[in-house]
Amino acid sequence: MVGLQTLHTLTHPVYNSAFFKAQFWDGRSPHLADQAQGPVQAGPEMAAPPKLVEERINSIPEYVEEFKFAYGDKVKINFEKITSTIAIFEKVLVTPSRFDDFVNGNDNALSKAEKEGLDVFIDRGCAACHNGIALGGTMQPFQVAGKYKFASLGGFAGDKNGMVKTPTLRNITETAPYFHNGAIWSLKDAIKEMGSTQLGITITDAESDKIETFLKALKGRKPAITYPQLPESTLKTPKPDSKI
Ligand code: HEC
Repeated sequence: MVGLQTLHTLTHPVYNSAFFKAQFWDGRSPHLADQAQGPVQAGPEMAAPPKLVEERINSIPEYVEEFKFAYGDKVKINFEKITSTIAIFEKVLVTPSRFDDFVNGNDNALSKAEKEGLDVFIDRGCAACHNGIALGGTMQPFQVAGKYKFASLGGFAGDKNGMVKTPTLRNITETAPYFHNGAIWSLKDAIKEMGSTQLGITITDAESDKIETFLKALKGRKPAITYPQLPESTLKTPKPDSKI
């Protein structure tokens, strides 16, 4: 779900990614169907040109049947259809939490300490950027008030305007390390770093503990996924070293 790649770029979680207003750290993609086209083609990731992807899927009868089942017999299984289908799957990867139960009116869904943490989170200004259903997912300015302690690692400074995609805080206890270059491993340190880089304030240990207590309530119920048996390739399936 979260990985640290050799380029020192932290992978965003796919859970709840359907709620993000922008995809990728520099927000270069507007939605999941567009986003899914990137990693498939990117050299360090899957390095597969669209034509190769289309030939592979169309060479395997079980995949063709599944596409017909989903979209009707006349479906054209092209790159756009394949990658937008991945995006449809990603939309089920949502993780409702006790925080949602609370927002939906169940006052007892959060403990007293978690509610106190939520108050500190709002009072200190975190919700200015970590807001909406994902508590993140929009483009926001970075290093608003101070320099990020590990800014030099990885060399990423945001999009051309210095804006960075705000990560979701859902399931945040499960997605260490933190920040675009994964340089901070403790959630407490990440919260305090936000105080100095984004808000120009010192978050005390006590405040950080309270915020962390609230953030733990964002751990969500994960959907049960049954992994499919993948169909066999055929003699028509392009081999991995095919040149197109
Ligand atoms: C001005 C907008 C803004 C404010 C205010 C803000 N954040 Fe952030 N937050 C961001 C952005 C943008 C990032 C990603 C920075 C990066 O890695 O380059 C981030 C990253 C984080 C991360 C690391 C997430 C991860 O998956 O790597 C945590 C945790 C976090 N913020 C919590 C908070 C808390 C708690 C507060 C309040 C004390 C806060 N933020 C205030 C915009 C903001």
